[in-house]
Amino acid sequence: MTFGVCETGIEELDAQMGGGFPVGSTILIVGSSGSGKTTLCMQFLVNGAKKGEKGVFFTITEPLFKLTSNLEKFEFFDRSLVDDGTITIIDLRIIFERLGLDAEKYTVEDTNALLGVIKDIAKELNVKRLVIDSITALCYRLQSKEMIRDFIFKLGTFLAAKECTTFLTSEIPPKTFIFSQYGIEEFIADGIIFLGEVERGGDLIRTLQIVKMRGVDHSRIKYAMSITSRGIELAPLLKTR
Ligand SMILES: Nc1ncnc2c1ncn2[C@@H]1O[C@H](COP(=O)(O)OP(=O)(O)OP(=O)(O)O)[C@@H](O)[C@H]1O
Ligand SMILES: [Mg+2]
Repeated sequence: MTFGVCETGIEELDAQMGGGFPVGSTILIVGSSGSGKTTLCMQFLVNGAKKGEKGVFFTITEPLFKLTSNLEKFEFFDRSLVDDGTITIIDLRIIFERLGLDAEKYTVEDTNALLGVIKDIAKELNVKRLVIDSITALCYRLQSKEMIRDFIFKLGTFLAAKECTTFLTSEIPPKTFIFSQYGIEEFIADGIIFLGEVERGGDLIRTLQIVKMRGVDHSRIKYAMSITSRGIELAPLLKTR
């Protein structure tokens, strides 16, 4: 069941999906290191926040101060959205510490405790957009594919009911066309956005492709993607030199 669309503010991407991602969907943002996953997620949160939709960003891979100092270089970013609480950025490692989750691998109880905290935060802040950067680093701490499946499924179901759209970043090795580290994440997600690259005349061009989006009639064409101080912008690959 969908309730409407959730705009990313990235025109071509929204247009491909009839205005935006289905509200309440869980999207896997897949790419190798430096492919633009964090930037895409932040642009998605900021665009929502500018329309008054609250968002939360859970980071595992980058410390808060680095994340915010990178963000400040983008024109789309507005510090006041963080200051007034429209966007909340949380270091998940602090939650791990508070829950006493110091083991390398979590038990089922540990995992449920973590899920409970994330759900409570989403509920309390009444967020409409949520990001976990990265789901790969989180899944690394779960002991089995079943636990990974269960975690993402339960989180996605809870957030869908709250009409909260979710981006999970998935780290893959360079030059590969796979969607996740554990081979599970992509099956539970409603959508997959693949950030890759192609070589053109000796230059490496960033690309973005909608690989899957349940319930949406979309093409799977590759867009040329640029990251500049304006953030992420797309253009049809065929038209770029
Ligand atoms: N302000 C900026 N202006 C132009 N390009 C930028 C800017 N900030 C970042 N970039 C480009 O974006 C790339 C990193 O993007 P991002 O951090 O979103 O990637 P990522 O996929 O999250 O990487 P990782 O997996 O390492 O976290 C940088 O390597 C740089 O090329
Ligand atoms: Mg990143």
